[in-house]
Amino acid sequence: MVTACSACAWLWTGGCRQSDGRRVTHFEPSSDGRVSVSRYPRACSFEDGSSPWSPFVEHCADHGNETVSWYENGHVNSAEWRSAGGLRPPKRVDVLETPPPTDLALRRAAQGVGMLWRADFPDARRLLSSMSKRLDRTRAEPARDSAARFYQYRQGRRNRARVLGMLLVELGAGPAVDLPRAPDVRAACGEVYGDTVGPRVVSLRELLGVLSAHRWRRNGIAVPALGARIHPHYGVFPPTRNEYVDLVAAAEVAAVRTAFDIGTGTGVLAAVLARRGIPRVVATDIAPQAVACARDNVRRLGMGDRVIVAQADLFPPGRADLIVCNPPWLTASPSSPLDAAVFDRGGRMLSGFVRGVADHLTVRGEAWLVLSDIAELLDLRTRAQLLGEFDSAGLSVLGRLDVRPRHPRARSARGPLAFARAAEQVSLWRLGAKR
Ligand SMILES: C[S@@+](CC[C@H](N)C(=O)[O-])C[C@H]1O[C@@H](n2cnc3c(N)ncnc32)[C@H](O)[C@@H]1O
Repeated sequence: MVTACSACAWLWTGGCRQSDGRRVTHFEPSSDGRVSVSRYPRACSFEDGSSPWSPFVEHCADHGNETVSWYENGHVNSAEWRSAGGLRPPKRVDVLETPPPTDLALRRAAQGVGMLWRADFPDARRLLSSMSKRLDRTRAEPARDSAARFYQYRQGRRNRARVLGMLLVELGAGPAVDLPRAPDVRAACGEVYGDTVGPRVVSLRELLGVLSAHRWRRNGIAVPALGARIHPHYGVFPPTRNEYVDLVAAAEVAAVRTAFDIGTGTGVLAAVLARRGIPRVVATDIAPQAVACARDNVRRLGMGDRVIVAQADLFPPGRADLIVCNPPWLTASPSSPLDAAVFDRGGRMLSGFVRGVADHLTVRGEAWLVLSDIAELLDLRTRAQLLGEFDSAGLSVLGRLDVRPRHPRARSARGPLAFARAAEQVSLWRLGAKR
């Protein structure tokens, strides 16, 4: 007896054993003598009496081929799993034709069961929102020390993303969501997931993020220091906090022929430097989506003759009179590709920049490092360690400009990290090579 998995073409040979070794007691072969997978869930039962279809679905997910399968209308269906945010596909998927109570949905999600929505789209949004509010109400007691509180917060965010990511929708050709009162997702999903050939399953929460990122990309964010709008792409750090951009716009600049902007993101700081009259700016980013976004913004701003954007790990070849860098401010492992603009694994970008910058400066060149002290307030780094890194890299501090954040979260007393946000200061460190 041979069984082929319709999702991943895995062949089950040997007749009566499932991949986990349990014996199947009954087969119902189809007319060609094979057990078709679509009939397998109804046809077989295991010796221990359990339902065989969930192990089957798990087997498909275990193959790591980013496929999800579910049982619906008497068939096992499957679709490609897509997550731009790096979510893993659920091992088991149930179909939801009516909204379940919030507690039940949360319980299933916490068990790792994906719920494929087949009802009214706005009801799915409502369920997601009530799951989210319920999770907010069940916070653990905050840890006592700051660093532990930060890691606890990160763990909580990861769990939250995993659980809320279990509410799923299918993307059909278009890409389109074929559900009553579903929004038009074509442009937004086309930008992030590319053309849809076969059916795909995505998390509803991610889809809503993709839709709002599309609105940002279309409308842009006003950047007063630039006197223009910047259009962030999905997954690229948006310049919603103006204070750090204002620092780069205000710092005194000597005669500069070439500037580098390391980790350019949307290209906002490169654009500010070009707006300040620097004739040549080379901007780099390690993330391809950031490179595409920065190029898009440079083109929109008509700065293509002054700003070059390249994909690179830190520095482009050559030297510059001014090198600007706004690295991720927190040392932590990113849990998704989107996190990588905010969390710096092991402080790799910050130390790489500090250690390498002197070799890329011209003789009287200056480096501007934009950094918040939030990592110090959370006990993830000390000021002495930062100054020690500057010193061992042969850099001296030429000056520093400080500013207090103005974004609403800095004034909010809510959340486990509010104590650090309330005291946070953002600085532009002016660094030069020791002579
Ligand atoms: C905090 S964001 C800053 C973006 C932009 N400069 C701004 O100020 O809005 C950090 C950026 O550094 C990029 N990055 C991280 N590691 C990098 C590396 N090794 N080389 C180049 N870019 C890197 C990330 O992709 C991200 O776009």
